[in-house]
Amino acid sequence: MHASRHDALGNPVTLVDPASLGPLNDFVEGFIACEARVVNILQIAGTEPSPLVQACCAALHLFAESRDAPRHAAPFIEAARRSTMTVTPREQRFVEAVAAWVEGDVPRAIALHDEQAREHPRDLASVKLGQYHLFNLGDSPGMLRIVQPSLRAAAEVPYLHGMAAFAWEQCHLLEQAETAARRALAMQPKEPWAQHALAHVMITQGRIHAGRDFMEAVSGQWTGLNSFMVTHNWWHLALFELELDNVGAVFDLYDRQVWGVVKEYSQDQIGAVSLLARLEIAGADVGDRWQDVADHLERRLDDHVQPFLDLQYLYGLARAGRADSAARRLERLEAFAPLAPPWSRAAWQQVAVPAARGLLAHAHGDWSAAADHLGQALPRLQSIGGSHAQRDLFEQLHLDALLRAGQWSGAQHLMQQRANTSPQSLRLKRQLRRVYAALGLPEVSP
Ligand SMILES: [Fe+2]
Repeated sequence: MHASRHDALGNPVTLVDPASLGPLNDFVEGFIACEARVVNILQIAGTEPSPLVQACCAALHLFAESRDAPRHAAPFIEAARRSTMTVTPREQRFVEAVAAWVEGDVPRAIALHDEQAREHPRDLASVKLGQYHLFNLGDSPGMLRIVQPSLRAAAEVPYLHGMAAFAWEQCHLLEQAETAARRALAMQPKEPWAQHALAHVMITQGRIHAGRDFMEAVSGQWTGLNSFMVTHNWWHLALFELELDNVGAVFDLYDRQVWGVVKEYSQDQIGAVSLLARLEIAGADVGDRWQDVADHLERRLDDHVQPFLDLQYLYGLARAGRADSAARRLERLEAFAPLAPPWSRAAWQQVAVPAARGLLAHAHGDWSAAADHLGQALPRLQSIGGSHAQRDLFEQLHLDALLRAGQWSGAQHLMQQRANTSPQSLRLKRQLRRVYAALGLPEVSP
């Protein structure tokens, strides 16, 4: 007989070894809290045959977001499916949702996580997994939808409100986002995802000083987190510093916090690419920093996990001067796009391909081509995944291409709108002065 127990959120779980409950809770709580202890469950992968435990281990492998990840995750799903243990319908559905992810059927994974949210709304690990997939497809309303049943059933869990806050923010409902984030933080001041959602709200609303001060004040709490959460929150602090033209502070954050925690990890890599690119757009010389990042990107030439990731790998290689690798990466991306699964093919073909051509042109200084190609991709950029703040990189590169191509009226059109929504940005003020001078309108300068 297998003991019936409950996880930390009160969901019944089926385990052979009662001692497995600790590592399982490290997954359940650690995953929703973005904590590093989530990986502890891997230590019982070989001894605890519970299908739920096996599926959690598979999910951790998939989070590597690499070409090999499904191959590494598959044995855990096979073990879960081979099991003769009698498990609950909730556990069964969790296994099938992760299995769909292993098999590359993300829409099916989302459908299963949605169903789980309705029938077992305290399965918050499932809700967060569902949000992850929806985020990668640019489905912000879906992110908001999937948390709704839990808001009634698990309202006492601070991390749920952090998940809701980010969904509100991605839906451009900023007041609701801030309310949810502050609710989470009132319950748990050290809630990194709620802090993160608030950083998104503040940069979107142009509250640059407040955002910088807030993230700096809470940064001492960024301990025990997974590498994505810690480097990404530092990245958000760096974005505020960049708008304030504190380039020295941004380099310091890049060198000490953003790059170097887990250099092999996809999210750490794109955080680095994105920050170096933004530093260059702001006019800074990043020295040889592209090289170390590119050494790691070289190992991903055949990764086509998400278009949002591919594009940044490509740009990083190109900016490092790895022309052959960048050209090969573009070739492979173009070859992969028509073969992508039907649910992501349009994003690859109609957005990622022109964006990739634009990024390569930008990296090589072909400004008009960069502006043309990126301009084609921008209207549908949401479909490649990533957050507004992350995708803003591509909009900034498009604007930068217009500036460098001397397309001053197009640049003014975009840049003045940005300055209007972010009046505290010293970077935009400085760059706008140049635009108005070039347009023969120095008296308009901010
Ligand atoms: Fe973010």
